[in-house]
Amino acid sequence: MKKLFREENMKGKITKVMSGLVAGLIFLGGCDVAKPTETESYVLREVPTTVTADFTKESDKGGNWVTYGDCKVTLKDGAAVVTERKTSNAGVAVECPDYRGNTIQASAKATTDNDSLTLTLTYEIFGNVSYVNIVGGGKNDEGVIDISGQIEIPANAKNAKVYLEANDVRDYTVSSFSISVSGEFNNLTGTPVEELQDPTKTASLSAAYADYFKFGVASPASVMTNQNDGFRKLITTQFNSVTPENELKPENVLDYETTIADPAKYNECPAIHFDAAKPILEFCKQNKISMRGHTLIWHSQTPSWFFYENYDVNGNLASRDLMLKRMENYIDAVINWCETNYPGVIYAWDVCNECIDDGGGIRQSYWTQTVGEDFVEKAFEFARKHAPANVQLFYNDYNEYQTSKMNDIINLLKPVAAAGNIDGMGMQSHISSGLDVDNYVGAAKKYADELGVIIHITELDVQAPKSANPMYDQGVYMKKLFTAILEACKAGVPIKCVTVWGITDDMSWKSSTKPLLFYGNLSPKPAYEGVMCAINGGDVAKPADYVEPVVDTTPFIEDYEDQKFTGGPRYSSKQKVVGDAYEGSYCLENTEGYAEYDGYAIDVSSYAGHTIHVSFAIKSKADVCKLTADIDGTWPNIAEVNTSDGEWHTGEGDFHVDDGMTLQIYWESSDMSPFYLDSVKIETVD
Ligand code: XIL
Repeated sequence: MKKLFREENMKGKITKVMSGLVAGLIFLGGCDVAKPTETESYVLREVPTTVTADFTKESDKGGNWVTYGDCKVTLKDGAAVVTERKTSNAGVAVECPDYRGNTIQASAKATTDNDSLTLTLTYEIFGNVSYVNIVGGGKNDEGVIDISGQIEIPANAKNAKVYLEANDVRDYTVSSFSISVSGEFNNLTGTPVEELQDPTKTASLSAAYADYFKFGVASPASVMTNQNDGFRKLITTQFNSVTPENELKPENVLDYETTIADPAKYNECPAIHFDAAKPILEFCKQNKISMRGHTLIWHSQTPSWFFYENYDVNGNLASRDLMLKRMENYIDAVINWCETNYPGVIYAWDVCNECIDDGGGIRQSYWTQTVGEDFVEKAFEFARKHAPANVQLFYNDYNEYQTSKMNDIINLLKPVAAAGNIDGMGMQSHISSGLDVDNYVGAAKKYADELGVIIHITELDVQAPKSANPMYDQGVYMKKLFTAILEACKAGVPIKCVTVWGITDDMSWKSSTKPLLFYGNLSPKPAYEGVMCAINGGDVAKPADYVEPVVDTTPFIEDYEDQKFTGGPRYSSKQKVVGDAYEGSYCLENTEGYAEYDGYAIDVSSYAGHTIHVSFAIKSKADVCKLTADIDGTWPNIAEVNTSDGEWHTGEGDFHVDDGMTLQIYWESSDMSPFYLDSVKIETVD
């Protein structure tokens, strides 16, 4: 045991804090702790577990809200009216610095001319700033955007706050906004953050894989200006390719202030700046690390004013001709500013990002509305025309390993490839450890074969399973995944770069799922070890606290008569026990799915190694309701029930849960209508 604060650190505020500490708080079991700076205070305080904005009171007069970014907030009739928003993320925020190490539920109600609004969590972690989207949503029948979602705040996060943002600078009015702790409150107000580990002691991934592909990482530019040099050292030790996580996206490159000051002058060629990207470009130049430029043409993180006549969102959308000019000029200006100022640093550009819709076909966006469906072909034509010959041009997308999406992407890119305007397919690879690795590398091969392009894995992150040993199981999966990737490389599949989407779990845009290779304190995870084992041999070490997974074949019965349920939401959906049951008095209601695959999920991992038989009753106005196994990339159906008559129906099916598998199964409705579930029974049949 070590003393929490050493004498020499006890200055200023800390001294005062110390004098108020009870003896029991002075000691912390068995680990090194960080030296607090003068402004940090760690004292266990009682704090409320809900913060609710009070829009009858000003921010500095107990209103429990703050202005976030460049905008004006006016209080009116118990709501906050947000105007003069200079950036798409500017708006109202609620601060929750005391909830680190907890899962929170953030909820807001707002009206706006925008299509949708998003709640985003931001916090500082070891001097870096992270942004994690919690939930986004569109208008309900009353025209109100009513959103609520859960997110975990890492234990080392400081100054956490949640803000309400949009995809453009239109006004919004928020009438309610609150954050509360979900579940039991883990009060860390008296606990200092951890100490960073020395990252230079960890063997280099990029050196280990040098014969096969570049090993890259996405990083925010805050790493380059961070007073902790550990993050920079980790990058230079581990990686030989860097992707700026947000800094080269249109929302950070387009210069609204300058453009709007003289819209006529900038009509065909909006002003741009690289204030956000410069530190990371400079870092790559200094350290001779190659950069992937991400991304030129995208429906997201591109402000909507870019698509309007005179850049005025209250006017008309720009014509095809005008938008083609803006597109060409933007692509030309961005690529060539980087090439002129940082020659040779950017070796690949994601020209177009995420242009296929989740439901199939081309995604509708401002780009399709203004230019039309050939915007992808045009973007690649312009990029080829203006990019230096040695800069590789990529298309980049997610769920790219799913058969139907892959076919759509290949169809979209065939003409681009035929015109000689594309060099690579970027497989984002935001995956979970349920994804079949052969299926995945099969997709890489198919892109290469059908389009004649090279492959970059551009945004790899792998959700840790919800198992007894999530970090270890994730490590074992990483070994499997990288073994498959290596075998594919050896068999001639041209995978030339693998980039992980973030440095540490805590910095990940999906931090709650712990999807990366390093812990928040920079020490390597079993996931890192798994990647190394794939190339060096050996197995991921079982942790000292390894828990034998339980195989429990007790039948699972849920009839909701005790008004409880044990499963949970898949994505945005919500569950509630209601009356009007199939049997007895109660059943489960599932509402608010934003996509058909949002639904009610149950974990069946305890049946690993057995075949299960699932039976249930279901009612919905949707044509069809399905019970599906949550295996990324394939999603096999267990049962399908025709529910179009709105009456109760029964369904059943069998599924084999593989040995050691962590698996959820979920019910969904075909058109996102609410559904009702009752009499759920799961039993093993072998
Ligand atoms: C994410 C970033 O990681 C977040 O910081 C940001 O808030 C949203 O965008 N596909 C992409 C990436 O192509 O640009 C996205 O990055 C993740 C999904």
